[in-house]
Amino acid sequence: MKRVDDFRLKFGKKELVPIIVGGMGVDISTAELALETARLGGIGHISDAMVPDVSDKRFDTSFVKDKTRFYKYNIDNADKSSIKFDLGALADATRRHVGATMQAKRGEGLVFVNCMEKLTMNAPRETLQVRMASALDAGIDGITLSAGLHLGSFGLIADHPRFRDARLGIIVSSVRALQLFLRKNARLDRLPDFVIVEGPLAGGHLGFGMDWAQYDLATIIAEIVQYLKTEQLAIPVIAAGGIFTGSDAVSFLEQGAAAVQVATRFTVANECGLPDKVKQEYFRASEDDIIVNTISPTGYPMRMLRNTPAIGSGIRPGCESYGYLLDGNGNCAYITAYNREVALHPNAKTVSVMDKTCLCTHMRNYNCWTCGHYTYRLKDTTRRLADGSYQTLSAEHIFKDYQFSTDQKIVLPA
Ligand SMILES: Cc1cc2nc3c(=O)[nH]c(=O)nc-3n(C[C@H](O)[C@H](O)[C@H](O)COP(=O)(O)O)c2cc1C
Repeated sequence: MKRVDDFRLKFGKKELVPIIVGGMGVDISTAELALETARLGGIGHISDAMVPDVSDKRFDTSFVKDKTRFYKYNIDNADKSSIKFDLGALADATRRHVGATMQAKRGEGLVFVNCMEKLTMNAPRETLQVRMASALDAGIDGITLSAGLHLGSFGLIADHPRFRDARLGIIVSSVRALQLFLRKNARLDRLPDFVIVEGPLAGGHLGFGMDWAQYDLATIIAEIVQYLKTEQLAIPVIAAGGIFTGSDAVSFLEQGAAAVQVATRFTVANECGLPDKVKQEYFRASEDDIIVNTISPTGYPMRMLRNTPAIGSGIRPGCESYGYLLDGNGNCAYITAYNREVALHPNAKTVSVMDKTCLCTHMRNYNCWTCGHYTYRLKDTTRRLADGSYQTLSAEHIFKDYQFSTDQKIVLPA
């Protein structure tokens, strides 16, 4: 019977344990988690979502305070179009977060950064260019482009000296999305180094509509593997979404995937950025508690716990401090929804907004409990302590469980 450790992910001459821990913003996939994964020979991700805020917490900088002070005059204004990111500050924050992480890297594995393109930051092209170029400047091993993938993104860094040496990859949820990307990208003569295929059971935003349940990862992987074979393109395909055990991973590796990307099992790792209280919510969840809704202003469905505090919250939009979801014209679906509720309830001290949420503020405060479909199985991966809480696990324990387990078994911690 095969185990994940019988396979290797090959990048040129480099051979890696074929386990990738996916990016989880905002700072849920911390540098510590990514570094442990790399130390164990796999690929870890940090995320560049809200990186100025992450830098403030990690390095005591004051990017968010400075921005808030600068745009304070606009706080009561419904029009957020004047709020722009200082590109120099964005570059500085990215270089700090990436640079410190890469300096601390040990072992044979790699650390990538997850760049969600849906963070349009009121200037989509300029900000994405700065985010990617600064991560490359600071020595990141690779970049994974996700959520809102724009077909021309590789072109934004085509002049960077590391454009051909860093590993660049994309996340897609269909063969069609991959075909479009490859077609548009052809003129750069630079293929993606990997393609992560994310199915409908993943955490975070989904690359499907509310009919997500009609899709299945194995089918999409088979289509993509077949398409790449027909086109004679040797791009490693990485399966993601709902891979909960080592045996699940082996079934994808045997199907032709070069590696798996996993995340949910690591949300309860000691190294994961979620507060301990939130980790206990993930452990306690039952199957009925895992829902997919459309409250994210990005327009993508998102999976989360039913008791997520962000649901129904009617806080004032925090764009003067954050503003990561402002489109190129200063709009965000939450601002529209919030202003509608305020107009409907002119005398109310607080309003409730059910259809959208202020994702920046709530993700930043760990109040949007996004999670994968199988979160309800996390309780089966650990022990219950005398006080009724669940024991969190080391990332090493979870990683090795994926790497060495067989027969759908999950090893409990000592
Ligand atoms: C808490 C959480 C946050 C996530 N945030 C992001 C993100 O910021 N960007 C992204 O591309 N994917 C994100 N994902 C998706 C993961 O990177 C990964 O591809 C997916 O969840 C794998 O499926 P699994 O969780 O069933 O193992 C997130 C997943 C979780 C569980």
